[in-house]
Amino acid sequence: MADAPQFHDRMLSLGLARVSEAAALASARLIGRGDEKAADQAAVDAMRTQLNQLDIQGVVVIGEGERDEAPMLYIGEEVGSGSGPEVDIALDPLEGTTLTAKDMPNALAVIAMGPRGSMLHAPDTYMDKLAIGPGFRQGVVTMDMSPAERVNALAAAKGCSTEDITVCVLERPRHENMIAEIRTTGAAIRLITDGDVAGVIHCAEPNTGIDMYMGEGGAPEGVLAAAALKCMGGQMFGKLVFRNEDEKGRAKKAGITNFDRVYTRDDMVTGDVIFAATGVTDGSILPGIKREPGMLTAETILMRSKTGSVRRMTYQNPTS
Ligand code: FBP
Repeated sequence: MADAPQFHDRMLSLGLARVSEAAALASARLIGRGDEKAADQAAVDAMRTQLNQLDIQGVVVIGEGERDEAPMLYIGEEVGSGSGPEVDIALDPLEGTTLTAKDMPNALAVIAMGPRGSMLHAPDTYMDKLAIGPGFRQGVVTMDMSPAERVNALAAAKGCSTEDITVCVLERPRHENMIAEIRTTGAAIRLITDGDVAGVIHCAEPNTGIDMYMGEGGAPEGVLAAAALKCMGGQMFGKLVFRNEDEKGRAKKAGITNFDRVYTRDDMVTGDVIFAATGVTDGSILPGIKREPGMLTAETILMRSKTGSVRRMTYQNPTS
């Protein structure tokens, strides 16, 4: 049998942009309508339809959930036309379902793709995350450090006061102690209600003003964020968090045996990947879908880790 064609990331990335764009456009009519499920479903349907038009032999490794709980884009689902390179896909058709339903900032349609075996098969559990942008020596902040130690270490590395550091954190009761400790350093905290893929990406985007991300969020979102940072530069660490035996069982099923492992960005994303995100609601990385009479506008960021290239694409379509 002939070998599967190689993963030509440059051409495929253009197709990938259309996939995230389709998901974002589909959920746009549900922005601010208070219906999270409908918004998610619209994005899932559109992403799947568009993905199946790509010439790939794709497998979803980070998806909408396990096969018995997600009818579409479940973990292990084969996607693509069935001809072309063998690729793994991590996706979140609507990262920030509540943000979309409430028309709050930073909801995104997100997808990453790499050669088979290039991304961690993270179970649907939580992950303790720590991220900073590019330009620092490896390990300047670590998972072993306390939140205050991380702020101090990053301020020293930047040559600034701790008061000039801004940390992004998901606003959750589980983070109360961490937030209190960060406050003792004088650092600012940007609290977000949802959307930690964007939270992590913020660290690598200079105009967001965010220096560091920390705290527990979804493990699948952790791998997507690691894929983005692999393209943009920056460090990320993640440790799976298990609340019960069922969650450990999910991890075992995904092939994970060391439950205490701290994954670096490159442990989570081992090969070169391409990453696309389209803004659904306005955010600091991307504007959201604009719906004006007679015109729909979407903006997508498309990145390749091999070259570090970042492309921003604006799509406009007249509507009747
Ligand atoms: P959804 O896209 O499923 O709505 O997830 C949003 C999100 O905020 C993620 O960005 C984050 O990783 C996770 O939920 C946090 O989970 P929880 O809301 O349980 O704290």
